[in-house]
Amino acid sequence: MSLLVFPSADELARHAAASFVRHAAAAIASHDRFAVVLSGGSTPRIVFRKLASDEFAPQVDWSNVHFFWGDERAVPPDHPDSNFRLAQEHLLAPLGIPDSNIHRIESERPPDEAAARYDADLTAFFGDGPRRFDLVHLGLGEDGHTASLFPDTVALGETQARVVANAVPRLQTTRITFTAPLINAARAVEFFVTGASKALVLREVLFGENHHYPSQMICPKDGTLTWLVTADAAAELPKQ
Ligand code: 6PG
Repeated sequence: MSLLVFPSADELARHAAASFVRHAAAAIASHDRFAVVLSGGSTPRIVFRKLASDEFAPQVDWSNVHFFWGDERAVPPDHPDSNFRLAQEHLLAPLGIPDSNIHRIESERPPDEAAARYDADLTAFFGDGPRRFDLVHLGLGEDGHTASLFPDTVALGETQARVVANAVPRLQTTRITFTAPLINAARAVEFFVTGASKALVLREVLFGENHHYPSQMICPKDGTLTWLVTADAAAELPKQ
């Protein structure tokens, strides 16, 4: 596991964009395509905008990049809370990514149906090969959740299914989410954490005695795990 601390969100986004470029080039050179899983919430916006900028966009062969989502809210794709909409506005539309490369969770359907259809989409994409994403982006919630793997929810105990509808009583909603086994099959996983509000949970997740946070389930079996955090989010970490 690598922990990288940046003075600002812009510096974090710059590093994340450069990492995306490197992973994309390596994946396309190795197996002709780059399968990346985007996260939701608000933090990814800075990374999307950096990737779509003139500084980074020309460095990627976008025709071979396939976009997936690690979780989605049970809202239509044009809803303000939609993780797809966040990426569409700040990354996919500005880059003109073709629909064939956008693998959206059909969150307008009932959650169980949306999860089953996404699982089928993954089967269609990966075929008989391993479901191994090249890069997975994740965020960290103040309760230690990641993707839509929230504390005390059923999805945490899922060992077989790869995409599930996960009821989140605290939010009074059901979300569609990857399970930890699917995320842990990735070649590379990167967490983006910004803001002083995440300082305490980040310390507990990375250095605490308790191991009950969902984000602590993320440990790629045969891949890299990197935490990209800003200085304000790292304020409570033991001095390195
Ligand atoms: C979501 C995300 C979720 C997010 C964290 C952090 O759908 O909300 O997948 O796991 O990454 O809640 O969100 P922020 O980056 O907005 O703090």
